[in-house]
Amino acid sequence: MKLHIAVLPGDGIGPEVIAQAVKALKAIAMEFDHVFTFEYGLIGGAAIEAVGDPLPEKTLDLCKKADVILFGSIGESKYNFDPSSKIRPEQGLLRLRKSLDLYTNIRPVIAYEDLLNNSSLKKKIIKDVDFVIYRELTGGIYFGDQTLSDDENYASDVCGYNRFEIERIAHMALKAAQSRNHKVTLVDKANVLESSRLWRKVLIEIAPQYPDVTLDFLYIDNAAKQLIVNPKQFDIILTENMFGDILSEEASVIVGSVGLLASASIGSEYAMFEPIHGAYSKATDKGIANPIASILSAAMLLDHFDLFDEAALIRKAIEKSIKLHITTPDLNMKYDNISTSKVGDFIEDFINNPDETNLNFTNIHLGQSTII
Ligand code: IPM
Ligand code: MN
Repeated sequence: MKLHIAVLPGDGIGPEVIAQAVKALKAIAMEFDHVFTFEYGLIGGAAIEAVGDPLPEKTLDLCKKADVILFGSIGESKYNFDPSSKIRPEQGLLRLRKSLDLYTNIRPVIAYEDLLNNSSLKKKIIKDVDFVIYRELTGGIYFGDQTLSDDENYASDVCGYNRFEIERIAHMALKAAQSRNHKVTLVDKANVLESSRLWRKVLIEIAPQYPDVTLDFLYIDNAAKQLIVNPKQFDIILTENMFGDILSEEASVIVGSVGLLASASIGSEYAMFEPIHGAYSKATDKGIANPIASILSAAMLLDHFDLFDEAALIRKAIEKSIKLHITTPDLNMKYDNISTSKVGDFIEDFINNPDETNLNFTNIHLGQSTII
């Protein structure tokens, strides 16, 4: 298969983690005889520095003409401390999601058997956790009207949803549940918010089209608790934009690190794959950022094009790296000195040599190649 991939590394740790994902994709292309081409674009703080715009026209054009987009992370710490700043890196990502109408953000949360001791939660709570968050990505409070009074003593953000915005992601979630464990939990605040009541109404109307799927409801405050006391109850969590942002970050506690969670942002025309974590500016260029979320995002990208064997091989390589403690310090395992690019090297080597007999796993901890 030929794929032209737009790569937007973004800010902070974005470039270093995305470089590992690109390495994995190149290895896959070689192993399976695909032709993947990569074209890079500026976004976020880097784009503000270069051209004064967090989403330059050129980047948007590149994304539109590519087959798919791989995105790193966004947000420069220097802007975080200036609330009055009119131009912010995050606007680049939000405008990109909106311009490409990437309305469904899919965030799988799967507990790795080898990381059960890594979570701050008890092993018995997280063992076998496997659910997916369907986060609405182009509506809600992220995109509603914003105001700031002239005296700057009052500010507002509107959370609004159109019926069609709810319907289209609801169908995605309900369909996905049919090939999983047949359960969708809508998370909202319908006891308080009008927009949440519309979500419930629409879901109750649509769900009967999926008779094999059970529809359940939880208020966001309760869901935040259930996620850590009994995460196994979930199959698909469907929720609006901001609740999904918060719940997915919370869910990263289950797997052990936010550096492990990947996502797919899907619209009817375009698709983008992105780790759920932010730019983590403090860690930039220190070689401590976990590349797995980005590499897993690359696996989700391959799934999107039905390249299932390829995606499975990436996941196998990731599992192996975790099993062998070839991980960055966020996972705090036996060896904590494996750098971002060394983790990437291992995964690349594993993809090139899936027959494990060709690999010398002990070498990696000495900083040497794993291929013998
Ligand atoms: C995410 C991030 C973004 C979001 C930020 C960087 C705008 O936190 O993808 O979860 O809030 O959507
Ligand atoms: Mn987030």
